[in-house]
Amino acid sequence: MSSTNPETAFFGHPRGLSTLFFTEMWERFSYYGLRAILVLYMVAPVEQGGLGFSIPKASAIYSLFASLNYLLALPGGWLADNIIGLRNGVIYGGMLIAAGNGLMFFPGLGPFYGGLTLIILGTGLLKTNASTMVGTLYGPEDGRRDSGFSIYYMGINIGALVAPLIVGSIAQGINWRYGFPVASAFMAIGLVQFYLGGKHFPRLVFAAAPAASAVEQRQRALYLRLGLAAMVAVVAAAFLLVPSVEALADSFGAILVGIVAFVLGYLLLKGGANTSERRKLAVVCILFFISTLFWSSFEQAGSTLNLFAENNTKNPFPSTWYQSFNSAFLIPLAPVFAALWIRMGQRQPSVPAKFTIGLLFVGLGYVLLMVGAQSAAGGTKVSPLWLTGTYLLHTIGELCLSPVGLSAMTKLAPARMAGFIMGVFFLSISSGNYIGGRLAGFYEKLPLPQLFGGVGGFCIVVALLFALFIKPVARLMEDEPASSGASR
Ligand code: ALA
Repeated sequence: MSSTNPETAFFGHPRGLSTLFFTEMWERFSYYGLRAILVLYMVAPVEQGGLGFSIPKASAIYSLFASLNYLLALPGGWLADNIIGLRNGVIYGGMLIAAGNGLMFFPGLGPFYGGLTLIILGTGLLKTNASTMVGTLYGPEDGRRDSGFSIYYMGINIGALVAPLIVGSIAQGINWRYGFPVASAFMAIGLVQFYLGGKHFPRLVFAAAPAASAVEQRQRALYLRLGLAAMVAVVAAAFLLVPSVEALADSFGAILVGIVAFVLGYLLLKGGANTSERRKLAVVCILFFISTLFWSSFEQAGSTLNLFAENNTKNPFPSTWYQSFNSAFLIPLAPVFAALWIRMGQRQPSVPAKFTIGLLFVGLGYVLLMVGAQSAAGGTKVSPLWLTGTYLLHTIGELCLSPVGLSAMTKLAPARMAGFIMGVFFLSISSGNYIGGRLAGFYEKLPLPQLFGGVGGFCIVVALLFALFIKPVARLMEDEPASSGASR
């Protein structure tokens, strides 16, 4: 259990935040660097150093890659909680990511698929457990928690901003595969600084929470074997039964729904050991839905918004540059939000209120774009200010929901399942990425004002409805005096 950390060495926050900031910055560098070039590398002709895949095959691999990166956070978090501990989760994850990027440097499909697999497994371990470790730096009543996550989120976005510029320039300017060793080297450097920064963390991150009994110990070992067997079975079935990667991406939605139902069902029915834990896990499930809706709209940055940039906007620069707008807005705004939460102290909006604001802003972004899309009717190209405004509103929404969501998961999770609950938050990002990617299929089928207006309107209506439940949900988050020791 964490105690309040009096340290203020890193912008008024504990020193461990600086270690995690840079570790996650390099992990995200690897992820966003790869994300920026993955589709282009896959579809580039073989004689130009690419893989020569068709666009449908490349998009299918891309959407599976994006979704699985976040989905694997679930087993990654469970493994840390029950077997290896949070810190080892980050270390092993970083090693896998560095190895995966290194492998992708080599030509051929074996290194390509092998490298992607290692990166997915590594991200599942590193991202979730590094985020959970941020939460361990703050005691239950420490008002700096949301602010600390906002600063951490800035690290994420510095990695996300510079990676496409560096990896993309090397890949497009020299050779598609030469960006990968750069990402590998930076991940290795990030890992060394993480290892050296070990003394700045509370003891609880160094090992899994001890099992309460010999029976629980045996259960953990059994679940580990079952989990590994299930993963091998799913991968084998995918290879043997599914005719193509495109078909796999199509059926992935059904798999995701099954996983969500199983995980939320487990949390609601079996997760909590007492009333206080059960109430908090119910909040995790409620926030899960708001978060999924948010990400399914927000992550259209890579799908419908990207298409709007390419096809419907008068661009003074390459349309892919819009991909950096979110991070470019976020980096200066994150400290403003971090300071705002600290300044407001006890008066800051509750977690469900911040989620409502986040959803509202992502909806408003689409309403703005709906107006822009009306002017784009008939093939007219519109001003870049429409997308710029949309990205600004989306970034404000993201700052109210995403770092706050990470922070909330560390508050709501019973200590023994902290990593797993963080994995549940990433499951919402995985589902959101999947839905957002699939919505691109409507781009040519629906008039754009209707598509953007529909997405925006739906988010706003859900946000307004959820606003009615802010108080009761916030009350569910509170500790009951008798059981306050049971949860983080
Ligand atoms: N933008 C968020 C991240 O990369 C989802 O962590």
